[in-house]
Amino acid sequence: MRRLAVFGNPIAHSRSPEIHQHFAAQHAFEISCERILVPANGFEEYVRKFINSGGEGFNITAPYKQDAFGFSAQLSEPASLARAVNTISIRDGVIWGDNTDGIGLTNDITNNLGWSIDDKKVLLLGAGGAVSGVTSDLLSCAPKKLHILNRTLSKAQEIEQIHGDKRLKAIVRPESGYDIIINATSAGLKGELLDIPTSIVTDKSCCYDMTYGISSGVATTPFLSWSSKQGAMDIADGLGMLVEQAAQAFKIWFSVDVETRSVIEALRSTL
Ligand code: ATR
Repeated sequence: MRRLAVFGNPIAHSRSPEIHQHFAAQHAFEISCERILVPANGFEEYVRKFINSGGEGFNITAPYKQDAFGFSAQLSEPASLARAVNTISIRDGVIWGDNTDGIGLTNDITNNLGWSIDDKKVLLLGAGGAVSGVTSDLLSCAPKKLHILNRTLSKAQEIEQIHGDKRLKAIVRPESGYDIIINATSAGLKGELLDIPTSIVTDKSCCYDMTYGISSGVATTPFLSWSSKQGAMDIADGLGMLVEQAAQAFKIWFSVDVETRSVIEALRSTL
């Protein structure tokens, strides 16, 4: 039995244990994957307890991705640029921090949805942890432009500065007609509306919401409903990203590939 876990607060809603059990079944691995609720300031203590009792790897979700970054002795490049860690593995006693959110997003967009990022105009809405976690992987997919639009401009500018890439710009006023628009704000979760112009969407735009909200083919997040109303060519929610980031974490822990489509479908059927 290999021991995994996911740490966060809140954590009861996390689908990660279920996803990792699907992956384990594909390889006939026996795993356990606990949801661990971490109280404020308790990250290091809880994680150390888990490692000392034989834990081999774990995911970290909000609000502890920065704590996990500080806890890691070695970092992958995406984790280092994001200054956040969502996957930890223990290799020869060394704590390795990785961030698989970005590759989870780009694999979902390019492989599952078939949207091309290469040479396209991409707009990221928001500049919190969700955006800093995916920026380097989006840049790796060679967009023509990657714009970050955020209510608080300085946060978008900070991300722009970290990467120092000409294609990446913190913007105040978006251009019209983006090929891909990704909502990474928490506005919808709080029932708040985004203040964005309709001109960003055309009938060739693909709109992605990092939260989940497509049930029986109908968009249920405010951003996706809005995008459909503006005539977007395609819309998608973040369920695929969730499964794809977990697939990359599983690969880091066990050095095996997993099949994701059936897992996305299994989760979709329970939404
Ligand atoms: P996460 O880790 O999910 O990214 P976060 O770091 O709290 O969470 O970031 C939330 C993002 O949603 C921020 O970019 C926030 O904008 P500010 O930086 O201006 O706070 C954005 N956000 C939240 N509510 C919003 C709203 N009603 N309108 C626009 N942006 C909003």
